[in-house]
Amino acid sequence: MRIILLGMPGVGKGTQAKKICEALNIPQIAPGDILRKAVKSRTEIGLEAKAYMNSGKLVPDKVILGIIEDRLKAPDCERGYILDGFPRTVVQANALGLMLKKAGQEIKLVISLEVSPAEVVKRLSGRRVCSSCGRMYHIKFKPSQQEGICDKCGEALYQREDDQEKTIKKRLEQYREQTAPLISYYKGLGILEKVDARGEIEEIFKKITSLINPVSS
Ligand code: AP5
Repeated sequence: MRIILLGMPGVGKGTQAKKICEALNIPQIAPGDILRKAVKSRTEIGLEAKAYMNSGKLVPDKVILGIIEDRLKAPDCERGYILDGFPRTVVQANALGLMLKKAGQEIKLVISLEVSPAEVVKRLSGRRVCSSCGRMYHIKFKPSQQEGICDKCGEALYQREDDQEKTIKKRLEQYREQTAPLISYYKGLGILEKVDARGEIEEIFKKITSLINPVSS
């Protein structure tokens, strides 16, 4: 089962990807998470990516494609995966198509999560992340039991650097210019499904599950 989750920054791709991966027992592949780890460990890729990420710009395709190509070769990808935040440009989508073709594989489903830009600004500006386990919270929509502390591991929560208002604006602009064209790209391939991503996390997950079940059987 290979699925792509598309959508504006903050629409809930990571939240839903985690639930799908748990249900299907397949890995979540999120270049944003891989890059943040690289930034934290100050690797060469991390040092190159940091300035792009903190200013809300996309990291160059060449860097991302290197990361994805390596990741998809890992044994845990054999049964499938959820791509969360990749592809994000037409160049990346074409490259993914070629990688899969070489491996005799295909993407069965692309889900575009849809909400208004005003809603994603609310979701992003209230997001908090655990500094240790990466668990995600929202100060209003999904608060931790004790303010600023992770329910799971008791470590401190932090706000991502790119969740500042000015950077959010830039990320939305990059989405409109570079990622939104992928909606027609995958519609043209006949594998796109749109999901209204307003409302409760569980309700959205139910809608996604109803799309996955027919293609996975
Ligand atoms: P990345 O980490 O991928 O960020 P993003 O796409 O901007 O997405 P987010 O993680 O911000 O949001 P999300 O949709 O996963 O929402 P979430 O579930 O967290 O990328 C970061 C950067 O890395 C990019 O800007 C770029 O520089 C670089 N990068 C990454 N991939 C790249 C690529 N392919 N090419 C080039 N550069 C790349 O939810 C958000 C908040 O909302 C949370 O607090 C959550 O609790 C809450 N929430 C979720 N669902 C709901 C709901 N239904 N109702 C209320 N609140 C909700």
